[in-house]
Amino acid sequence: AQQVPDILSPEFAADPYPAYRVMREAAPLIWHEATKSYIVSRYEDVERVFKDKAGEFTTDNYAWQLEPVHGKTILQLSGREHAVRRALVAPAFRGSDLERKFLPVIERNSRELIDGFRHTGSADLVADYATRFPVNVIADMLGLDKADHPRFHRWYTAVIAFLGNLSGDPEVTAAGERTRVEFAEYMLPIIRERRENPGDDLLSVLCAAEVDGVRMSDEDVKAFCSLLLAAGGETTDKAIAGIFANLLLHPDQLAAVRADRSLIPRALAETLRFTPPVHMIMRQSATEVELSGGTVPAGATVTCLIGAANRDESRYRDPDRFDVFRDDLTTTTAFSAAADHLAFALGRHFCVGALLAKAEVEIGVGQLLDAMPDVRLADGFEPAELGVFTRGPQSLPVRFSPVRD
Ligand code: HEM
Repeated sequence: AQQVPDILSPEFAADPYPAYRVMREAAPLIWHEATKSYIVSRYEDVERVFKDKAGEFTTDNYAWQLEPVHGKTILQLSGREHAVRRALVAPAFRGSDLERKFLPVIERNSRELIDGFRHTGSADLVADYATRFPVNVIADMLGLDKADHPRFHRWYTAVIAFLGNLSGDPEVTAAGERTRVEFAEYMLPIIRERRENPGDDLLSVLCAAEVDGVRMSDEDVKAFCSLLLAAGGETTDKAIAGIFANLLLHPDQLAAVRADRSLIPRALAETLRFTPPVHMIMRQSATEVELSGGTVPAGATVTCLIGAANRDESRYRDPDRFDVFRDDLTTTTAFSAAADHLAFALGRHFCVGALLAKAEVEIGVGQLLDAMPDVRLADGFEPAELGVFTRGPQSLPVRFSPVRD
């Protein structure tokens, strides 16, 4: 039997894709001692866990992971409580709120960052753009003071370090826990103020949202805003870096997308399939569950490998090839079916921000292509991905001929 590399080993972190293939083929359900979880890797199994038609899974296992840094968020809720919370927050991220209020915010924040480097002929698209753009957008959508954006960015960095702290570094843990306190001290007075004097911003919308007579408490609103740092920041950050890395490594596809901007949504969907920002998410089994690789007992943690499922050869032809033109990936614009890859999950917890993320990437990539007509990787640079639970290019130094105004 083939040896399955450990998901916490350095070889796996360097390149998880060969291990994903071995797991899908030879070990579709394995017990992993270090994370005390069952790992599933086939598309059909991951899809089944996410869709959870029979109500066999919960997100109870998120409590220990998310609570110390965010408090109780929508991700930890289930059943009717989750459905109500979802109905309270989701409308702000689609339809007229997204189009009328937030598209201009996205355009403005992308342009501001690009203005910082477009005259220079060089940039690191990760450090100078991707890690900053989605966090700035969220802070601006919430209607926070621009002078506070750097603080917001610092909290963002501490939160994602906390969530990715596989080795349990005590300083990273302490910084994450401190962030929870500082974030609350900062947000709660602003939330109270917005309840008194509502504006047109996302924070005011969240404060006023009401479903069946239920509203969110100040603490609920604060926890949701905190979740947005990781859920809406780190993911979109890695999606933008990923789409650029994939296109720069495939210059013919980059040229095609540059010539026909309507291909950007396809390039995004293929990026989210090929190099998803979130590689693993966990669920807890409420009952014994039968999957293609065997039986998961009740009360077990199940680690779903999105990164492996998205390259399942029984679902996608030649899955290890990045191909914007593949015809076995659909890219509909419907809210609950942004595409059939699993990068946004599926079912009850399907990403609330999928349309916002799409809008950010589509606008951002369009503006970047305009500002950098002949963008290419810096000489000799080979992009390397970093991360195990979330994953994306570490840096992306590029060169281009600056456009004159
Ligand atoms: C949920 C991925 C962007 C907000 C999720 C989940 C995934 C995901 C995989 C499911 C987590 C689980 O079930 O355990 C992504 C990716 C993004 C992205 C790949 C970018 C390309 C965003 C943005 C927002 C956002 C921009 C901002 C609103 C959320 C929230 C949830 C969520 C609030 C929890 C939904 C629930 O529990 O019902 N996302 N996300 N995400 N996402 Fe995103």
